[in-house]
Amino acid sequence: MQSVTDRYDPLDAEILHDPYPVLAELREREPVFWHVGMDSWVLTRYADSVRVLRDHETFARDPRRTGGGVPEPSLSVQTLDPPQQNAVRSLFMTALRAQDLTGVEDRARFLVGERLDRLAGGGPFDVMAEIAVPLSVAVVTDLLGVEPPSYGEFAAMSDAIMRSMDGGLNPALVEPGRVARQRLSDLVDSWFEASARPGLLARVRQATAPDSDVSTRLYVKNTARVMFQGGYSTMAAAIGNAVHTLLTHLGTLDRMRDGALLATGVDELVRFDGPVQGTTRTAVRSCRIGGVDIAPEQKVVPLFAAANHDPSAFTRADELMLERTPNRHLGYGWGPHSCIGTTVAQAGLRALVAALSNHPARLAAAGDGVRRRTATMRAFDTLPAALLL
Ligand code: HEM
Repeated sequence: MQSVTDRYDPLDAEILHDPYPVLAELREREPVFWHVGMDSWVLTRYADSVRVLRDHETFARDPRRTGGGVPEPSLSVQTLDPPQQNAVRSLFMTALRAQDLTGVEDRARFLVGERLDRLAGGGPFDVMAEIAVPLSVAVVTDLLGVEPPSYGEFAAMSDAIMRSMDGGLNPALVEPGRVARQRLSDLVDSWFEASARPGLLARVRQATAPDSDVSTRLYVKNTARVMFQGGYSTMAAAIGNAVHTLLTHLGTLDRMRDGALLATGVDELVRFDGPVQGTTRTAVRSCRIGGVDIAPEQKVVPLFAAANHDPSAFTRADELMLERTPNRHLGYGWGPHSCIGTTVAQAGLRALVAALSNHPARLAAAGDGVRRRTATMRAFDTLPAALLL
């Protein structure tokens, strides 16, 4: 009989449907194991994942620290490590803190409310196309202060980039991802030149002035692209997963009409079934995790999805507990590469849940959703639902 580590294929239909039972088995039997397909050590315990994410001196995000290369369009806050990353990361964090997130949340709630009014009583619809994509494009473009691009063209580019995150498992996905990234860079460049609206982009623009340092200009533009594309695709996936959880946990939407439960509940939704399943780092020196020796240049994959259901970090880890506090889950990552957009994502999710829970029509499932065949991002391709009057 195959061992559980051999059975672990993140693209297997059963695992895409519900990864948590096999992740629990892995955590119990072999919490740190070598995965041939991923060519990496995989970590399933919360404490081991936090250790790797925190210790950026031992575990590199930047491939250049372990002899690899990074194409220019990929040099951003996401690929640079401290100390090189510090200036660009704090530029974006400061610019984000200066934004009116209450305004972003209010406008997002209004947009969802309007969409729900149109969908109510009209038969089944696809949550991804009708709510997740428009809401996440609206939140991210509102934050940046740019005109939303056409959904169709943008969704195709974004899909190619999202799929290329699985390039380690399927190298054929790498080139389409590179091409899409370049097209998106051109779009973001045009915003830097043309957009006059207030927003995050206007705040970081002075760092891209022609007299500023060439690499700073590059990092800032590339990071703006990551904020837009990464923010949009992760947000859309999070919305789909959150709606699915709400559909399968009856009564949750009603309870989230309570403001305190809305605030803690949106974090619990991300812990319970978040979009980002894991990340990769590369060891720059030998080290030991969970009794396993890691050699320099070996890759390590902390699995957020497994860590977030680790019973040694969360009581009743497999239950949705809206009131869970503190909730130090890894759904937004941890350490120097943790999500820059956490507060925006929380605002977008609150807007979604508030609009759904306060709408007179009742949200109900209308069939099974289709899970996207991607390993790094847990998302739905389609998720049917109906709003019953
Ligand atoms: C619910 C929605 C979201 C979730 C669950 C999420 C999750 C994450 C996670 C897990 C990471 C860390 C990945 C790693 O360590 O490799 C990350 C990084 C990042 N996120 Fe998010 N994200 C969300 C929405 C957003 C939004 C809306 C934005 C921007 C508007 C954004 C911008 C970023 C950026 C720029 C990074 C890279 C940070 C760095 O490497 O320093 N995210 N996100």
